[in-house]
Amino acid sequence: MRRARFVAVGLAVAVLGLFWPVTVPARSAVAGRERLLIDRGWRFTRDDPPSAALSRDALLPRLLPTGNAFIKDPARRRPAPTDRLTPDPPYARPDFDDRSWRQLDLPHDWGIEGAFSTTGSGARGRLPFYGVAWYRKTLDIPSSDAGRSVFLDVDGAMSYAAVWVNGELAGGWPYGYASWRIDLTPYIKPGGRNVVAIRLDNPEDASRWYPGGGIYRHVWLVTSAPVHVGHWGSYVTTPDVSAESALVKARITIDNDSEADADVLVSSEIVPLDAGGAHSGPAVAKTASTLVHVAGRSSAPVEQDATVAHARLWGPPPLQTPNRYALVTTVTRDGAALDRYETPFGIRTLKFDANGGFSINGRRVDFQGVCMHHDLGALGAAVNDRALKRQLETLVDMGVNAIRTSHNPPAPELLEFADAMGLLVMDESFDIWRAQKRPLDYHVLFDDWHEQDLRMMLRRDRNHPSIVMWSIGNEVGEQTRGEEGAALAKSLSAIVHEEDPTRPTTTAMNSARAASPFPAAVDVIGLNYQGTGVRSGPPQYPVFHEQYPNTFVYGSETTSTISSRGEYTFPVAPGFGAVASATAGEDVARRQLSSYDLYYAPWSYSPDREFLSQDTYRYVGGEFVWTGWDYLGEPTPFDASRSSYFGIVDLAGFKKDRFYLYQARWRPDLKTAHILPHWNWPERAGQVTPVHVYTSGDEGELFLNGRSLGRKKRSAGEYRLRWDDVIYEPGTLKVVTYKDGQPWATDEMKTTAAAARVGLTADRTEIRADGADLVFITAAIQDGSGLTVPRSHNRVTFTVSGPGRIVATDNGDPTSFESFVSPSREAFNGLALAIVRATPGETGTIRVAATADGIRAGAVSVRVVR
Ligand code: GAL
Repeated sequence: MRRARFVAVGLAVAVLGLFWPVTVPARSAVAGRERLLIDRGWRFTRDDPPSAALSRDALLPRLLPTGNAFIKDPARRRPAPTDRLTPDPPYARPDFDDRSWRQLDLPHDWGIEGAFSTTGSGARGRLPFYGVAWYRKTLDIPSSDAGRSVFLDVDGAMSYAAVWVNGELAGGWPYGYASWRIDLTPYIKPGGRNVVAIRLDNPEDASRWYPGGGIYRHVWLVTSAPVHVGHWGSYVTTPDVSAESALVKARITIDNDSEADADVLVSSEIVPLDAGGAHSGPAVAKTASTLVHVAGRSSAPVEQDATVAHARLWGPPPLQTPNRYALVTTVTRDGAALDRYETPFGIRTLKFDANGGFSINGRRVDFQGVCMHHDLGALGAAVNDRALKRQLETLVDMGVNAIRTSHNPPAPELLEFADAMGLLVMDESFDIWRAQKRPLDYHVLFDDWHEQDLRMMLRRDRNHPSIVMWSIGNEVGEQTRGEEGAALAKSLSAIVHEEDPTRPTTTAMNSARAASPFPAAVDVIGLNYQGTGVRSGPPQYPVFHEQYPNTFVYGSETTSTISSRGEYTFPVAPGFGAVASATAGEDVARRQLSSYDLYYAPWSYSPDREFLSQDTYRYVGGEFVWTGWDYLGEPTPFDASRSSYFGIVDLAGFKKDRFYLYQARWRPDLKTAHILPHWNWPERAGQVTPVHVYTSGDEGELFLNGRSLGRKKRSAGEYRLRWDDVIYEPGTLKVVTYKDGQPWATDEMKTTAAAARVGLTADRTEIRADGADLVFITAAIQDGSGLTVPRSHNRVTFTVSGPGRIVATDNGDPTSFESFVSPSREAFNGLALAIVRATPGETGTIRVAATADGIRAGAVSVRVVR
C-alpha cells in the first residue's frame, strides 16, 4: 500500500564535535572528548613496492569487519580473518623509513595535478586518479590516553582504503564516498610512536565521471572516555511541531568500551545556534536525566525528549530562515562528566503531497534544484570549505534552493553549509546496484557492502535539517527488471525507513515505466528526463501522476542542456531547440557548443521545455537540473575533451548565459535582464544574428545603435525574449524590459575594441592564513574602456608575491589540456582564473599580478589575516 501522502516532521544533525562556519578548527575538545583534525604532515607515495604487491581480493575480506556495526543481522557480520595477510606490506611497518616520500597535507587528490591524457575515453576526466597509493603519518598519542578510546575518523578516501596501525591491519572501507571509523584502541601505544599507514587502490574504470584519488576529505583523531556517546550516536527528531511548541525526541547510543559494566546519567539540553553555528543563548529546553546501565563491551540506547516553546523553525530563504539548535548531551558518572556531545539540528515539518507539491512548515516550495558532482573543478576532489562555499553561493545567487548530491553521499561540509544556508538536499547513496554501468563500479561491492554504505549515510546525515529526501539510487539498471528490481528497491527503502522514518525514499528513474512495479517501491517518484519527455516521447509526469494519484512526483534530473561559455553557432534553432549535432549547436572542429541554451543531449531537452512542464503540471514538485556547475569527465558530446558541458556555471566558476535564464525564473522579484550573444562579430556584418534576452520581466524592447528592433511580450509557455532576425552591425545592443507594463530592468552589450589590458578581481579582499582558505582571482582580457573582450584567448601568466601561492588555474574551457597546476593559462573567451592559498600561519598582503603579451598587466592585493 502506498501512503496517501508522505508526511515527515522534524529533524536534525549528528556531526561529531563542533560546527565550524567556514574553516575547520584544528582542535575541538569538550569534557572527556577530543576531536583533532589530523590533516597536516602526511607522507605519500604511489604504488606498492614491486616485491610486495597486494591484491584487492586478498584485502577485501579483511575490510568487512569494519562495517559490522552497520549490519543488522548478526549472522551476516564478519569476523576478522585470523590468518596473516601475505605479503606483509613493508610500507605498513612502523619502522619503515618514509622520509623520501612526498610530504603533504590532506585533503589530497593525487589525480588533479597530473597531465591530461589525450588517448582513451574522456568520461573520467583524462587525469591519472587511478592506481595504488600509500599515506603514512606518525601520531602523537600521549601516555595520558592510556585507558581511553581512540578512533580514526575518515570522512572519505578514494578508494578501497585499508588501514594499518603500528603494522597491524586494523580495517578499512572500499566505497570511496563513505565516511568511516577505525577503532585504534587495540593497536596503539600511548606515550609511544604510533604509525598509521593507509593504502588506497583506485580502479581505473569504476566510475562514469572523475572520482579523484586519495584521502580527499578530512581525517580526525577522536579520543574519549571508554564510556561515551557512540559513533554518530545521536538521532534527533521533532515529531510534533506547532506554533506554540515543538517536541524534540532524541535517541542517544551510549557505548561502553571497557570490560566493566557502567551506570551513567545521560541528560541533554537544547541550545539555540546563530547563523554561523555558534551557541547564541542559554538552553531553551532540557531533558530529564536518565540513568543508564551499559554492560561492559556493549552499547545501550537512551530515549529522551524535551519541548521547545515557540520554536524558531528551519526553512529555506527567501521566505523562511534556516534556524538551528544544538542538542547538547552530557554523560556523567559519579558526578564527573565523561562525555559531552553536540548534535546540531533543525525543527521543521515536511509534506510531500501528490497534488499540492512539497511544503516545508506549511508553505509550498518547489525544488529549484541542481545536481552536483563532488569535484571542485581545478582543485579536483579534495574538499575545501571555501571552494565548496563558492559553488553554493553562486548557485544561491541564481535562485537555487535545492541540491541533489549526485550520485553519492557528499562531504560532511556540504551538508553543514546547506543547513546554514537553508538549502534543501536530496542525499543520494548510489549510482549502481547489482547491474553494472562500468566494469569495476559499485556492482562489485553491492552484495557485500550496500547495507553498510546505506546505513552509514543515514546515521551520519539524518540529523541535518537540510536533507528532505533519501535517494537509494540513480538510474539503476534494476529499474526495468520487473519484480526482481522492485524487490531490491523495496529492501533498500526498508533499510532507510528503519534508520529514518521521517523522510521519504526516492530513486531517480529515467526508464522505469509507470505501470512497472519499480516506482511503487519508493515513497516519492523522481523522474529523470522522461517526466518532460525525451525526443518524441510524451511527457511522463501526467502518466505517473495518473498511475500513482497519491504519490508526490518531481524532476530528479532535468535538461542536460550543453554549452560552452561565450560560444555561439549559427543559425539558431527555433522553438525549444534541438539535440546537439554538427548542424545544431556544435562547433565540431573546436569541440565547443553554442550558448543559446537550445542544444542538448539526445536523452534530454532545453531548460525552457522543462519550465513549460513545471507550469503545465503544477502537481510536479520542481526539478534538479543536470548540472549546477560543470564537472570533470563526461564531456558529452565531445569525448576527446576533459570536462562536461552540462553546467549552468563553467568549471572555473564563470557564469554561462543559462545562469541568467534560471535566475530570471527562480528569482522573479529580482530585476534582471541579460542579452546574448556578445556583439563582436566582424565576420557576420550584414548577416542574421539572433538576439535573446533572459529577464524576470515579461516584455522588452531591443535597440541596436539606438534604433528600436521592436517590443516583444512573452506569451504563456515562453521563457525568453527573442529577436531572431537581427542583422549584425557593430555597436551597442540595449534592451529595456518591463513587467506588468512598468519599466523593470535594462542590459547593454557593446562591440568592444581590441584587447588592451588584463583586469584582475579577487572574490574576497581578505582571507585567513589557516592553510585552507582560498581567494579566487579572475583575469579578464579588457579593451581600453574596461569591457571584457569576448573572443579573446590571450595567454595569461599569474605570479604571486607575499604569503601565498597559486594552487591551480583554469579557464572553464572543456577542451583545455593545460595542467591545472600551471601558473600560466590561455584565457577562454576573455576569462581565466587563478586560485591562491595563503601560506599557513603567515599574515600580510598577497599581491597577484597577471601579464599577457602585448597588453597591460593587471594586479590585485588580498590581505591575509589570522
Ligand atoms: C543522466 C545521468 C547523469 C549524467 C547525465 C548526463 O542520465 O543520471 O549521471 O550522466 O545523464 O546527461
